[in-house]
Amino acid sequence: MLKRITLKNKCFCGSGLPYSQCHGRYDEAMKAAVKTGRQVPKRSLIKTKAQLEAMRDSAKINIAVLDLVGEKICAGMTTEDIDRLVFDKTKEMGGVPAPLNYEGFPKSVCVSVNSEVCHGIPSPKRVLKDGDIVNVDASTILDGFYSDSSRMYCIGNVSPENKRLVEVTKECVYRGLEKVKPLGYLGDVGAAVEEHAKKNGYSVVRQIGGHGIGLEFHEDPWVSFVSRPRTGMLLIPGLCFTIEPMINMGSARIYTDKKNGWTVYTQDGKPSAQWEIMVVVTDTGYEIISY
Ligand code: MF3
Ligand code: CO
Repeated sequence: MLKRITLKNKCFCGSGLPYSQCHGRYDEAMKAAVKTGRQVPKRSLIKTKAQLEAMRDSAKINIAVLDLVGEKICAGMTTEDIDRLVFDKTKEMGGVPAPLNYEGFPKSVCVSVNSEVCHGIPSPKRVLKDGDIVNVDASTILDGFYSDSSRMYCIGNVSPENKRLVEVTKECVYRGLEKVKPLGYLGDVGAAVEEHAKKNGYSVVRQIGGHGIGLEFHEDPWVSFVSRPRTGMLLIPGLCFTIEPMINMGSARIYTDKKNGWTVYTQDGKPSAQWEIMVVVTDTGYEIISY
């Protein structure tokens, strides 16, 4: 006999609650939002309880990797040394580095120094020196589930102005995070990021943003950090994405390395910073999955 679908059935998200008391409410709100031309997440982007558990396990590795980088990174190391550290730690914990061979990326992690905005390719020729500001962007696959986060590291004596860029960029991420809540808008996140960056005299990279994540490395939605409030995708519990603005000390303009096809630099050669966290929208606001 076919099971009758009633409003008493348990929600698809695995919360254990009746659908009507869980995503049923959000499905109603989404229907109304679509009518007014809003973007809403497809059902497949809403992570179930079991998927979120698997993503947290993946993130345990990603977090441990970045903690280890923080203990070891110092002047005189090469960015290739960082790559080795990331590869070994990820493997030791049973994961796979997501960047390795991703669309032809040749290494296990992105390491971007000073005026490199993102996607720096580790190299035995690139030696870290006193005063450098370094972004290490790690991503892990565990049992098919992805995690992704990045942090800035200051090597030795960093100039006060570069230190401030690093700190304000972190603040930008958390200003954005405060906007993550059910029935909020993705555009609120980017607007909060840009406001804080501008207030501090910095600019925000426009062409590269964050992304949905979980079952794939890069899922919908694309996350802009120069968005307008009350625009973009409606935030629904279970939607998971990264907040990872690239903040430039000078102009927002960037270019990509023609030889390697990957590394992005600031046009004016001034420094750029980035922090990345991976978050999921919850019933009450947000949860940070990776940092
Ligand atoms: N970790 C980056 C991100 O936040 C992606 C890097 S793609 C790679 O999306 F191939 F360069 F690793
Ligand atoms: Co990312």
